[in-house]
Amino acid sequence: MKKSSAKKDSINKKLFNIKTIPKRINDLKRILLARIPGNVFPLYVQFITTFRCNLRCTYCEIFNIKSYEMTTDEVLKMLKELIDHGLRKITFTGGEPLLREDLPEFIKFVKKHGVFCNIITNGLLIPKRINEIKDVDVIVFSLDGPPEVHNPHRAPGLHDKIIDAMDICKEHKIKIFTNTVITKKNYNKLDYMLDLTKKYNTTATFQPVENIHNKVSEDNLNNLLLTEEQLNIAFNHLLEKKKEGYDIGYSYYFLKSPLTFSGKQCTWAGKLFCSILPDGTVIPCNALIHQKNKWKNGRKIGFINAMKHMPKFKCPGCYTGFPEIDRMFSLDVKIIKENIFGAK
Ligand SMILES: C[S@@+](CC[C@H](N)C(=O)[O-])C[C@H]1O[C@@H](n2cnc3c(N)ncnc32)[C@H](O)[C@@H]1O
Ligand code: SF4
Repeated sequence: MKKSSAKKDSINKKLFNIKTIPKRINDLKRILLARIPGNVFPLYVQFITTFRCNLRCTYCEIFNIKSYEMTTDEVLKMLKELIDHGLRKITFTGGEPLLREDLPEFIKFVKKHGVFCNIITNGLLIPKRINEIKDVDVIVFSLDGPPEVHNPHRAPGLHDKIIDAMDICKEHKIKIFTNTVITKKNYNKLDYMLDLTKKYNTTATFQPVENIHNKVSEDNLNNLLLTEEQLNIAFNHLLEKKKEGYDIGYSYYFLKSPLTFSGKQCTWAGKLFCSILPDGTVIPCNALIHQKNKWKNGRKIGFINAMKHMPKFKCPGCYTGFPEIDRMFSLDVKIIKENIFGAK
């Protein structure tokens, strides 16, 4: 399909899908009602299903966190409560979400209630579990580039296994995203990921490495963290490539000035979106996972209640997808226009 007709097709799907209109009106109502103090609606939730992981990537230490994990019934009860209060999209992440045997039950449950769901995975267990999870809307593969980049970042031989897993998803016609952690090692080698967007019909997102887990060894971080100049080189390149038509999952607005865009606390974290830890603790977003705060546990007091009583927090901003979602909830016209019309 030609680029212009593909674009028109996607605009039409977004604008004229009559079935989704009541849902969209409800979303807007909730977004507006959240302006009233005390009102919260979990429209988007990232659920860290487990901290366990079958890998030990150089920039991640999440697997070292020891925690209670909610049982299947506790998770299903949580999902029901979130759905009853407006849940529209959920991301199952981790640790490695495919290590949870009951992940397919969660996917089936949210899909039954019309919630959009995706999982973020390192890809290792996709061949074994694909048939159980094929109802998922999107599988996000963490892939940092060609073998000489990805494997040293994450694990020997991993790149080829991910490509095999992506082939399996393609056979099953499951939509794929890729998420690339940008570091000193790959900030000027992002075209590999962009070429994959064409081959696998993927959307590519990019996330500069951050010390989110607060525990990554200094040696590792010094080798990986980007300078401001490198960050700008990477984002300018992505901006140019997006203009050429590559499917990059961030707005022009964000790509034009990542530092300004992401350098402040989100307004709607904890009010319209949040993250939930394996034990049921509710936090404003993943980036605050190590902030010592008296976060509330939804398993104990209810998840909506935990959002309503979220302690005040400070955040310097981050480069994850959250700031972009936050701007949508702020009804930022530029972002909304871009999401509907792909405006530059
Ligand atoms: C914590 S992982 C969990 C899901 C799964 N285990 C995986 O790796 O895809 C979620 C995403 O965060 C990314 N990530 C991990 N550590 C990071 C860091 N220090 N800075 C930025 N992104 C990071 C991973 O590459 C992955 O795309
Ligand atoms: S980035 Fe994902 S795969 Fe790598 S160690 Fe962290 S949780 Fe595991």
